[in-house]
Amino acid sequence: MQPPKDTARHRAHMPEGSSGVLNARSLTTAHRRLAQLLQPGLAVLDVGCGTGAITRGIAEAVAPNGRAVGIDVHPGLVEEARRLHSNVPGLSFETADVYHLPFHNQFDIVTAARVLQWLANPLAALQQLAAAVKPGGRVVILEYNHEKIAWQPPPPLSMQEFYSAFLRWRADAGMDNAIADHLAELFARVGLTDISVTSQHEITRRGDADFTTRIGIWAEGAASRGQQMVADGVISEALRAAAETDYRNWINESAASQTMYLLAVEGLRPA
Ligand SMILES: C[S@@+](CC[C@H](N)C(=O)[O-])C[C@H]1O[C@@H](n2cnc3c(N)ncnc32)[C@H](O)[C@@H]1O
Repeated sequence: MQPPKDTARHRAHMPEGSSGVLNARSLTTAHRRLAQLLQPGLAVLDVGCGTGAITRGIAEAVAPNGRAVGIDVHPGLVEEARRLHSNVPGLSFETADVYHLPFHNQFDIVTAARVLQWLANPLAALQQLAAAVKPGGRVVILEYNHEKIAWQPPPPLSMQEFYSAFLRWRADAGMDNAIADHLAELFARVGLTDISVTSQHEITRRGDADFTTRIGIWAEGAASRGQQMVADGVISEALRAAAETDYRNWINESAASQTMYLLAVEGLRPA
């Protein structure tokens, strides 16, 4: 059965309290393949930019003559991005929807990081991204396969149950939990060429300076996305709360590592 049309859009909405996770990212740590491709003078569109932490790094990498435009569908995130990064030359933010991009043939590189995973129709979005890039330009997408996350040792049962429910809640809305491994095929379907795939797995180990923040993404997920899942009736508040508390204790006492599976997929628009 097809999910109602707006379910994915509703579930993709970034909940209160997500800015911390987004603001902790940077171009060089959280979009590494793109960082390798940037050069001064390029025009780059960053779709689904959130609070703009990565977009800021893009603007700095293409300075002095380049420009970076960040767009996001949620006006509150765009406002926060403008407020946080107002002093960076060549950087601007706009509210826009990936399904209706107001750009055609304009950018050397169009990127979207961790965005297509939240869409029920990633193919339609990719068509828009490919149309925004100049002929000969490059599309670079960074995505997860959420089915391939690995924790050492396994997290508490409450978190395992929460995580399974999270994947079901996403799939029920038409989202592809394994989208990283399906991107190359989508690229070919929209006519992009010279497609290549780079592993971008994010591994955090006890002893890393930011271990607690990075492995804590699922405690934050239980605290924020978990509220949406309770409201949607897919988990109880008791499970949500137990997953958050048990997972935080596990991080403090026994967690050793987490590997999130990500791929960067890139392709060229034929000239
Ligand atoms: C997980 S965040 C990723 C933010 C940033 N790219 C990063 O990697 O940190 C996903 C972003 O996609 C945005 N988004 C979701 N649906 C969108 C749509 N239809 N059009 C544009 N942006 C969208 C969300 O508002 C959110 O800011």
